[in-house]
Amino acid sequence: MPDKKKIIILGANGMLGKAACRLFSGHYNIFPFDLNDFDIRDAGALRRHISDIKPYLTLNCAAYTDVDGCEEKSELAFEVNGRAPGLIAAVCREFSVYFIHFSTDYIFNGEKTSEYTEEDKPQPLSVYGQSKLEGEKRIMLSGGNNLIVRTSWLYGPFGKNFVSSIIAAAKDKREISVVNDQTGRPTFTYDLLDCAGWLIDRKITGIIHACNSGTCSWFDFAESIIKIKGIPAKIKAIKSDELRRPAKRPENSVLSVNKLVSLGYKEIRPWNDALKTYIEEYL
Ligand SMILES: NC(=O)c1ccc[n+]([C@@H]2O[C@H](COP(=O)([O-])OP(=O)(O)OC[C@H]3O[C@@H](n4cnc5c(N)ncnc54)[C@H](OP(=O)(O)O)[C@@H]3O)[C@@H](O)[C@H]2O)c1
Repeated sequence: MPDKKKIIILGANGMLGKAACRLFSGHYNIFPFDLNDFDIRDAGALRRHISDIKPYLTLNCAAYTDVDGCEEKSELAFEVNGRAPGLIAAVCREFSVYFIHFSTDYIFNGEKTSEYTEEDKPQPLSVYGQSKLEGEKRIMLSGGNNLIVRTSWLYGPFGKNFVSSIIAAAKDKREISVVNDQTGRPTFTYDLLDCAGWLIDRKITGIIHACNSGTCSWFDFAESIIKIKGIPAKIKAIKSDELRRPAKRPENSVLSVNKLVSLGYKEIRPWNDALKTYIEEYL
């Protein structure tokens, strides 16, 4: 049997990174790294590891993901989400390593009245979105074999996320306020990674959107969570302005998955089916 291909996974202790290590360990020889091993801003450290391991692929799940925190720590956001992905892409190119990076729906301003395609012009509303867009640009400029997978509203095992937070809050309070004026596509990490596995097999490059199908507001999402979990709490619909959060979020951040489907990948299952699986199997 041929040796398993080697994959470096960056951000391996994060929500997506841990799920990637779990899912891909059957097919690939996994080399996981996180901040306690080296900082992704340290191109020299990455170069040493890539040169030693000689991986087929580097999968970057590392990022500074605190959307509100990015407003205050914008320098850190641009270094980790903007500059570092460009450095990783350059090192990968140097060693002819395929590079996959994850980006976000928050690169769009949310003013479009239909789904966002890969060709739509990004115009981020927040520092997080701007820094992630900077990362995309630097990767594309590197000229290597790069794939940027844009996704949205991620949840899954191994991390605090909207689903686990709503369940915890619902157990504590009778009524939870959730915004009803932002629409998007909640995405289950394992469904996203199944899709990433398919893209890896075909060595797809460029930019691609990958999310569960269907759309909802955070309010609809929260209502489904407590309904599936059977918690007798009430979800109250509020407007984003009422929350006074530092970072502005797009009203519409629905990413079109038509390109993915046109490449031959099945549409990823509806978000509420995936949510049921997550809650029943992991919570
Ligand atoms: N979560 C979402 O809703 C969402 C939506 C769309 C796109 N995405 C994208 O999906 C990817 C994965 O997100 P996630 O939710 O899994 O994130 P996460 O749980 O916050 O994990 C990110 C990981 O990166 C590590 N990290 C942070 N700064 C680093 C640095 N300078 N060097 C090395 N490692 C560093 C973190 O370590 P520490 O924990 O020690 O800081 C953490 O383990 C990100 O690119 C994110 O932008 C996420």
